[in-house]
Amino acid sequence: MCGIVGYIGHRETAKVLIEGLKRLEYRGYDSAGIAIFHQGKVEIRRKEGKLSKLEELIGGETFDGKVGIGHTRWATHGRPSDENAHPHKAGRVAVVHNGIIENYLSLKEILKSKGHVFTSETDTEIISHLIDEFAQEGYSPLEAVRIALDQIKGSYALGILFEGDEECLIAARKESPLVIGLGDKEYFIASDVPPVLPYTRDFIFMDDGEVALLSSKGVKVFNTKGEEVSKEPKRVNWNSLMAEKGGYKHFMLKEIFEQPRAVIDTIRGRLSKEKGDAVLEGVRFAPTVLENMRRINLIACGTSYHAALVGKFLIEAFCRIPVDADIGSEFRYRNPIIGKNDLFVAISQSGETADTLAALREARRKGATTLAICNVVESSLAREADHVIYTHAGPEIGVASTKTFSTQLVILFLLALRMGRALGVLSCEGGKTLIEELVRIPHLMEEMLKTSSQVAKIARKYLQARDFLYLGRGINYPIALEGALKLKEISYVHAEGYPAGEMKHGPIALIDREMPVVVLATQNDVYEKVISNIEEVKAREGKIIALASTSDREIVQKVDDVIFIPETLPSLTPILLTIPLQLLAYYTADFKGTDVDQPRNLAKSVTVE
Ligand code: G6P
Repeated sequence: MCGIVGYIGHRETAKVLIEGLKRLEYRGYDSAGIAIFHQGKVEIRRKEGKLSKLEELIGGETFDGKVGIGHTRWATHGRPSDENAHPHKAGRVAVVHNGIIENYLSLKEILKSKGHVFTSETDTEIISHLIDEFAQEGYSPLEAVRIALDQIKGSYALGILFEGDEECLIAARKESPLVIGLGDKEYFIASDVPPVLPYTRDFIFMDDGEVALLSSKGVKVFNTKGEEVSKEPKRVNWNSLMAEKGGYKHFMLKEIFEQPRAVIDTIRGRLSKEKGDAVLEGVRFAPTVLENMRRINLIACGTSYHAALVGKFLIEAFCRIPVDADIGSEFRYRNPIIGKNDLFVAISQSGETADTLAALREARRKGATTLAICNVVESSLAREADHVIYTHAGPEIGVASTKTFSTQLVILFLLALRMGRALGVLSCEGGKTLIEELVRIPHLMEEMLKTSSQVAKIARKYLQARDFLYLGRGINYPIALEGALKLKEISYVHAEGYPAGEMKHGPIALIDREMPVVVLATQNDVYEKVISNIEEVKAREGKIIALASTSDREIVQKVDDVIFIPETLPSLTPILLTIPLQLLAYYTADFKGTDVDQPRNLAKSVTVE
């Protein structure tokens, strides 16, 4: 939700900022802007629309300054427009902001009464005015920022410049992510690591309430009391190539094809074949936690929520403990019943989703043991949870999650295995069987990727369809939801995921000869029932695209199109089913010519409520 960058150093500043913003566009893309020194003044260029519009605006213009800030926006307060685009400047102070200032209206009134004139509808603009107010009173830039932040309620990651002081880039963070990149006599700020990866892999991860002062001499970080704190730099093991398209037309397609590798990386070092167990370095439950565990809550949003729904099946099957899967934004507003004998698992690619984070905080407050499953190292969720397991999917740039979903499924499988073994529900032999199948999965995923051209043909065949229905049962049902979500997100075609058995209670009314129905019909204990559901659709002339087990040759007679899925355990089949559904959404969107990597109205990381 909005991306910010900042730079101080010897390179061409505008270029570093624009290139950085390109790697953050997944966070928002309805307007963009930069503020940069030129001949001692802070120049602002900002433009509604995608970053390319800002690039057009800047054209061949050059700036001589060595410090600047940049922003790519996902509108919250004020529609997308040139005026509402960041940076916002008041007096000497230019600001870029990711987050929401909750008390901006009251602050605006106070500032207006002191003669400040506002030119945008944003909450952000008050920050520049407020800081400028204190700077005018004679406070140093750092003091002015600190005093202003004391008055602000809400969340922020900020980059701040002061006209007249080219040796000063100030960063501040509260509840919105912000990292500092440490180069050789050059320093960076960014909402996430990819913009900085071409220059350095050494980072300081800011904590809530901290303010940093970057100059050409180095970086100083201060706590809420204004005391300088010493922060340990961390080396990130992602590299810059991982955040590039590598010859694929879109990041999403690249990330779909990266899945076997991502799963291998996620499994690596986490299996004990002899013990039939998983090794999860980030999870060290005290024995009493497991002994007393009565219930598990899995919480997430969007695609990660669909992983949580699969996790419910896995954990209940392997551990025989009741599991609730819930949506982050729903969980905390119903005064959830959760206590110290419960395990709370938050699942999030970014680790910054505001609703998931808030749910985690609520669970902590109520005394639950908390575990985060995240892709982004050192994200807020990872740092606030008691335990953390990382999916090693690498950076995911496409707004629609793909490889992080399949790796989340793998982590949930490993977690269920580990807990099932620890609780004695799963035997060593049982664990070994699960592991044997799990290690085959990357190879089977490669097989699934070979269906790509077949799936593209199916996408072409149904390109005019206005609605799709996705049906699945049991552990495959969440994959029906995920398939439908992918299609909606990137191709803007209406799609619904439904439990196949529930179809007769409503969606069956929608079925006619225009309606493609994607049915997840792999062999498992509800297979026969799914076949009955297929008959029900056929009887109403619906078009069926079935995803069926390779051995199931009979299904060819019953359906219009079939994609075969290699045989594996029902508990691992969701990972394989996911791939053709991702491809179906991808090709539908690509043939329709939508913006696959940056679908309208969406943002990859939603850091506001
Ligand atoms: C946004 C994205 C989704 C994502 C969801 C949760 O809505 O557009 O693709 O699934 O956030 O994100 P998280 O980072 O918490 O997994």
